[in-house]
Amino acid sequence: MKFFIDTADIDEIKDLAETGLVDGVTTNPTLVAKSGRTFFEVVEEICSIVDGPVSAEVTATDYATMLDEGRTLAGLAPNIAVKVPLTRDGLKTCRALSQAGTLVNVTLCFSPAQALLAAKAGASFISPFVGRLDDIAHDGMGLISEICEIYANYDFSTEVLVASTRGPLHVVEAAKLGADVVTLPPDVLRRMYSHPLTDKGLAAFLADWEKTGQSIL
Ligand code: E4P
Repeated sequence: MKFFIDTADIDEIKDLAETGLVDGVTTNPTLVAKSGRTFFEVVEEICSIVDGPVSAEVTATDYATMLDEGRTLAGLAPNIAVKVPLTRDGLKTCRALSQAGTLVNVTLCFSPAQALLAAKAGASFISPFVGRLDDIAHDGMGLISEICEIYANYDFSTEVLVASTRGPLHVVEAAKLGADVVTLPPDVLRRMYSHPLTDKGLAAFLADWEKTGQSIL
């Protein structure tokens, strides 16, 4: 399973990239606005830190402009994945860009029917938003299960990228379902390390070691 980080915060990306656990980055217009940085500048910087796919989202809604924006974004770095919304024009753009060899992440997916269309349009990634479904009392993980089941019936190359994750359990459930990628806010990745029994066990080991008066180095 690949781990992408869902942020446009350079300090967070640098810090987490050092762990060797980060396979890519996803951004969206909200995250770019939150960073306070210029879009192109921040995306180019992220691409220089992370080798894997870096999603950068178009902001037009019509096919012609979306395609122009997508080509511009793809020109910023070889590891750009152009993010397009799951609309009719977005899927047309997805088809055109993917045929030209550009990675495309189809975002804002909320149904299995939409995910099927994205795969047929040649998406590299489909991003179902589990947290936003959970927020309105729908079953986010149920959607991932349905998409994984559908994709397994065919030879689509589209990877299931579980997005809008809210906590470690979303990641664990996505892994149990065999999702290809999960994108996590930085704090979710950090929370995955934590277990009170690890902290308690380590404190006891260190206290006992201290009593021996020895050192390894
Ligand atoms: C995915 O690529 C999106 O950027 C993201 O996961 C959205 O998450 P949110 O629902 O927490 O805004």
